[in-house]
Amino acid sequence: MQRLLVDSLLSWFSANARDLPWRRTRDPYAIWVSEIMLQQTQVKTVIPYWQHWMRELPTIQSAAKASPAKLHKLWEGLGYYPRVRNLQKAAQQIVTHHRGKFPEQFDDILALPGIGHYTAGAICSIAFNQPKPILDGNVIRVLTRIFGIATDPREKQTNAQLWQLAGELVEMASIQEVSASGKARPRLLPLLGERAGVRAVVQHKTKNACSRLNQALMELGALICTPRSPQCNLCPAITLCIARKKNMQELLPNLGKRKTATAHRFIAFIVERNAKFFARQRPSGLVNAHLWEFPNLETDANEGKARQPSARRSNIRESRRARSDAPCHPEDFHTTSSKPFCIIKHSITRYRITLEAWRAEFAEPRIMIPGRWLTLGQLHQLAFTSAHKKILARLSVLPEGRSPR
Ligand code: ADE
Repeated sequence: MQRLLVDSLLSWFSANARDLPWRRTRDPYAIWVSEIMLQQTQVKTVIPYWQHWMRELPTIQSAAKASPAKLHKLWEGLGYYPRVRNLQKAAQQIVTHHRGKFPEQFDDILALPGIGHYTAGAICSIAFNQPKPILDGNVIRVLTRIFGIATDPREKQTNAQLWQLAGELVEMASIQEVSASGKARPRLLPLLGERAGVRAVVQHKTKNACSRLNQALMELGALICTPRSPQCNLCPAITLCIARKKNMQELLPNLGKRKTATAHRFIAFIVERNAKFFARQRPSGLVNAHLWEFPNLETDANEGKARQPSARRSNIRESRRARSDAPCHPEDFHTTSSKPFCIIKHSITRYRITLEAWRAEFAEPRIMIPGRWLTLGQLHQLAFTSAHKKILARLSVLPEGRSPR
């Protein structure tokens, strides 16, 4: 079964692979950057980020030297910012411990910050064509369905079984590549005898077999073997797939019950003085650390429509006490009045965020929280959290001082 599956996947990938920009290179640095960006993020979102990053920081050395502000700006909107900080730490280690050359040994790659088994396997297989397995959400779905694995893939034993299977498949690809050896190239086919011609075709299909096999598994999961309504009729593994035979494609992988989304509500204050706005940088240790935002605090998510923040102070104090990552209070601003500015909805993983922005006037410029007064132009140079970037965008399209509604 493994052999047939590998053959089918390699042929299918040759005919159906998307032309993604990081598939046009074998540079391990470029492939590494793509893999880190692709964690938790969709391909179509990643493409422009990857292209911009590679233009701005084309080498490991340039990534190692870049300022944190530049790195965060290049990553702005991708989320999960520890990824970019680890990427830089790893680039710095490659410069100091590997003379700036991306290491080729699996264990050396795995030892770099921010690189786990999946990413090390992806770099080794895609960039260096080594028979190292990968297992991400797409591959888990493909393998649990084809092999009819009905236990929870997050359980230790099942997870080990899946890594083992992924390893067997990429080993098989490697063996097929070696056994299809020979120097013939497809364009020489007409000049070759029949047997040599067949061997050349086989070789063409098996070239870089480990790299292509792993990408074929991911690609199948992304395009055909999707979580809902998989397109089994287009699948190269249709005759082998156990889930399909048992008509249980949509029941696998068996991930148990999904956690439900939770609502979170924040109030942000847009305070202006001499055409400058007050903004602050989130401290380290918090979600979205080092990114910029307008001062804000979390409040009761279940409360009804917003009223004037000043009329709701006791409630705000309550929620402030409960959350240590909201070091801001309306009294910090000595506001005299506040006007609703806009309401932003933003979702991230299982958080459904409602962010109410208020334009606050203040009597006295006494702000107790750390931050800076910056012009709109300066704010646009900084990396903002996605939700607050939406406020900034609205602020930028308005004539100064006007509310959007
Ligand atoms: N998801 C994770 N890695 C990928 C890759 N190299 N190509 C497409 N999707 C991916």
